[in-house]
Amino acid sequence: MTTAQPKKQRGDLITAYGEISPFAEAYRTLRISVLQGNGKAPWSVGISGIHPAHGATTTVANLGLITAETGMRVILLDADLYKPSLHRVFEVSNDLGLSAILEGKAKINDTLFAAPDLPLLRILPAGPKVRNPAALLRPNRINELLHELRDWCDLLIMDLPSVGAVAYSSFLASFLDAVLLVIRADTPRMDVEQTVKRRLQNAHVLGIVLNRVPVARGDGSAYRYYAKEEA
Ligand SMILES: Nc1ncnc2c1ncn2[C@@H]1O[C@H](COP(=O)(O)OP(=O)(O)OP(=O)(O)O)[C@@H](O)[C@H]1O
Ligand SMILES: [Mg+2]
Repeated sequence: MTTAQPKKQRGDLITAYGEISPFAEAYRTLRISVLQGNGKAPWSVGISGIHPAHGATTTVANLGLITAETGMRVILLDADLYKPSLHRVFEVSNDLGLSAILEGKAKINDTLFAAPDLPLLRILPAGPKVRNPAALLRPNRINELLHELRDWCDLLIMDLPSVGAVAYSSFLASFLDAVLLVIRADTPRMDVEQTVKRRLQNAHVLGIVLNRVPVARGDGSAYRYYAKEEA
C-alpha cells in the first residue's frame, strides 16, 4: 500500500504512526461512514470543529490520506482564511491558494499541490491573508469554484474554521453535500446540540467526530495518539 511520507513526519498525520496503527483504522472507519453518506456518497464534505483546536484540520488531513490511499482523487481545501494550517501539515507553499482564486489572482491548477508520495491527494491551501475573508465568499463565486473543482477530484474535503468561532464557516458549510462536526470527547452534549441547531441548521450534518477519546493504556485504540501528547 502506498503511504504518504512527508519529509519531516508530523505527529498530526497517521503516517507518523504507521499504516496499521489503531489511528489509521479509526480513520478508515470514518471514511466508510462518510462515503455511505445519507444513502448517497457525498462529493463535498466540510469538516469543522465545534470550538477552535478540537481537531478539524487533523481530521481533514487523515481522512484525506486514508481516502486517497484507496485510489480516489481527493482535494483538501483549506477554507480557514484566518488561521490556515493545512499547508503546514503537508509542508506545501501557501503563496497562492483559495484567497487568490477568490480574488481572481490565480486559477485552480496554479494552487494545487500533490501530497508527498501520494499524488492522488492534493492540497489547495488557503493562500495569503486577506483583510476581510467573509467579503470574498460570495455565493456565486463559491458555487462556481465548487463546480470547477468537480472535474479535479472524486472527493473534496474542506477544512472549515470552527463553527463556534467564525461566522462564515456555517455559511460555507451550507454549500456542501455533507458536514462533519469535530468535538473533543469531553464536550457537553448541550453544547453540541445547540451548535448543530443554531450554527448548522442550513447544513447537511452527516455526523459528529469524537476526538481525543480517553482510552485506558491496555486498550490500543487511542493509546499511541495520546503518547504524542505525553512526549
Ligand atoms: N486526538 C488528538 N490527540 C492529540 N493531539 C491532537 C489530537 N487531535 C488534534 N491534536 C492536536 O491539537 C492541535 C489542534 O488540532 P487541529 O489543528 O486539528 O484543530 P482545529 O480544530 O483544526 O484547530 P483550529 O481551530 O486552529 O483550526 C494540533 O496541534 C493537533 O496536532
Ligand atoms: Mg484547523
